Amino acid sequence: MIEISKSNGLRGRIKVPGDKSISHRSVMLGAIASGVTRVSGFLNGADCISTINCFRAMGVDIEFDGGTGVKIHGAGLHGLKAPDKVLDCGNSGTTTRIMSGLLTGQDFKSTVTGDASIRKRPMKRIMTPLKEMGADIISADGNDCAPLIISPSKLHGIEYRSPVASAQVKSSILMAALYAEGQTVITEPALSRDHTELMLSAMGADITTNKTSVTIKPGNVLYPQDITVPGDISSAAYFIGAALIVPDSDIVIENVGINPTRAGIIKVFRDMGGDIELTGERKSAGEMVADVRVKTSKLHGIEISGDIIPTLIDELPLIAVAAALSEGTTTIKDAAELKVKESDRIRLVTENLTAMGADIEARDDGFIINGRVGTSGLHGTVIEDSLDHRIAMSFSVAGLAAEGVTVISHPECVSISYPEFYRDLRLTSGIIP
Ligand code: S3P
Repeated sequence: MIEISKSNGLRGRIKVPGDKSISHRSVMLGAIASGVTRVSGFLNGADCISTINCFRAMGVDIEFDGGTGVKIHGAGLHGLKAPDKVLDCGNSGTTTRIMSGLLTGQDFKSTVTGDASIRKRPMKRIMTPLKEMGADIISADGNDCAPLIISPSKLHGIEYRSPVASAQVKSSILMAALYAEGQTVITEPALSRDHTELMLSAMGADITTNKTSVTIKPGNVLYPQDITVPGDISSAAYFIGAALIVPDSDIVIENVGINPTRAGIIKVFRDMGGDIELTGERKSAGEMVADVRVKTSKLHGIEISGDIIPTLIDELPLIAVAAALSEGTTTIKDAAELKVKESDRIRLVTENLTAMGADIEARDDGFIINGRVGTSGLHGTVIEDSLDHRIAMSFSVAGLAAEGVTVISHPECVSISYPEFYRDLRLTSGIIP
């Protein structure tokens, strides 16, 4: 349990930990590359450790320095070994879905599972296209959820129109496509994060992209890379949001990944009136990075919908918090995916913000939030986080701007993506004992 009280302003410069999506991919693709992949800036969080453990169980030699450096001795495309235990993905949907695609191309049987949250999350979205490619993948309990049992089979390329803009689905198919006969084309309803495409391309895969489509042909070898993981914009987002809504704030977050398929949060907060300045924009290992300076701003409501949604999907709980403290109405649409994240984030955001005194209505695909600026603002309460790291962090930010004390019941769940979150929050805001 952690108690958070009102902050007098966030100050200073911080660096957030490495990008979770890129860290996962560096291990998965490094494991099937031919030779040594060196990673710096790796996210030492529970989800990425789950990925490391799964690939170690398949015989990959992974040296992890316990900080942010990882050395992966790639086994080559056909060098993974049959695991002698169930592959446990913990809380990580990214590991479960992307690794399952990779496993359909192996010549051994495997079982993939995870924690209680993972075992409730939909896997049909990957099973359908993977089966279409010829994969033998079944849900052990027949409920289209993990555990998944994957047996060897011969794969062939497909042309797939995905019903969801999901990088996990896209990447799962891309992994299987590396082992399939013929080319595979995936088209998404809107472009989701493209880290897999960028890394595969850097490793020499035959992959091309065109707007919302990606085409890949199988190859014989992936070349290892030195990968520098940028700071995770999804982690930086909490400090950006906090600095905007807490009076007298002015902070800099250094070395943040601003890949356009991830940076919707910057555009949306700017459209809401946020004072956000990007400096030192540069490319690092194929990904754009910048330092982000944020000052307290008077925010107003906007509509957030359509193609921008996949570029800020994990930030929507935080945006809802900021919207509750903005002038006027914010409408969030086309975000039904929030219901199938680590928790049902539409329900939890609505219940927790309502408990803090906000005017919010849940919709099937988002929220309508009437900002409470100039009226009563928000007040502290006990937050139900359901062990969801993004709910815990979003409502910690809400607590910095609320009257009274906000209690986060399971602060330890932030270790999934940002183990030092409360240290950094304390350093910048001076609020937690
Ligand atoms: C991720 C993709 C997104 C995101 C998740 C990480 C990834 O999920 O919500 O936190 O690394 O590919 P979906 O693919 O389900 O949208």
